[in-house]
Amino acid sequence: MEIKLYPPITNASGPHCVTYEELERIARSAAGAVVTKSMTHCPRQGNPEPRLRAHLDGGIGSLNSMGLPNLGYQEYAKLIPKLKGFGKPIIASIASAPCAHGLPPVEQYREIAVTIERAGADALELNLSCPNLEDVPIAMDPQGVRAVLQAVTREVKIPIGVKLPPYNNTPKLFEEIARTLLDFEISYIATINSEPLTLDIDLATRTKVIRPNEGFGGLGGPAVLPIALAEVHRFYKFFQKHRAKIAVWGVGGITRPEDAIKHFLAGASVVQIGTLFLWEGPTVFEKLWAGIEQWLAENGFSSVEEIIGAVREI
Ligand code: SIN
Repeated sequence: MEIKLYPPITNASGPHCVTYEELERIARSAAGAVVTKSMTHCPRQGNPEPRLRAHLDGGIGSLNSMGLPNLGYQEYAKLIPKLKGFGKPIIASIASAPCAHGLPPVEQYREIAVTIERAGADALELNLSCPNLEDVPIAMDPQGVRAVLQAVTREVKIPIGVKLPPYNNTPKLFEEIARTLLDFEISYIATINSEPLTLDIDLATRTKVIRPNEGFGGLGGPAVLPIALAEVHRFYKFFQKHRAKIAVWGVGGITRPEDAIKHFLAGASVVQIGTLFLWEGPTVFEKLWAGIEQWLAENGFSSVEEIIGAVREI
């Protein structure tokens, strides 16, 4: 089942989308949908501070190991009906995480998905790729991806998206994951989550910039744009080749309208904004969309649809 957004731009599940107040700010902005922070079965405080360096040296991006701080799915089930009053699609991001009750990850996804669909969410985005938890992300294991998708697609009727990590330099795994996705009725993939296992150092203090996981965290922002474009493009080509009706939503490195245009040309039909939204807040959607529309008009196009996947070989 398809989910259409207008404008085709929204926040990435990540910064500023945990509390009702933050979600309401997105709902009141020009974003085409509201995407929640990835909700887990148990509420989470997240990883120890400092866990976010919003501005890396040279303006190259942000580094985080937040560890999915969120209110827990039961709270989001209460918030969603209120958020729907703003008339935008509400996309509930869902993740599994270690929890005292010991419920297996697949069961966590299933239970959350069923409850959140009942609460009125318009779509689910299954985050299989958080790089900041103890366990290796499920998205690195094709059998794990299959098990989650089987459990959720069996019970849920609303559109389902899947948030994926970068598979750069692991072509076999890319192929296995992409083939697994073909077996399910999913609406879209969102690629990429932050580039995992990255590190930065504060020269003034000679310390790592974040504390969790010995300083290793996920990189977002301008530095990851070429990685994100590559992932968008190869998933787009793969789905075209296999005639799969799975849309590709581009996430990663968008700080200017031109970056979003590159995502569309690479094959994205929607773009999500993470680091720029962290930096500047909800006005970014209006600014980016105005710039995208201007670029389209100046280049003789009347809609984003006309340029999706239209990149040319050189
Ligand atoms: C986090 O909360 O650790 C970031 C979310 C994600 O990368 O999935």
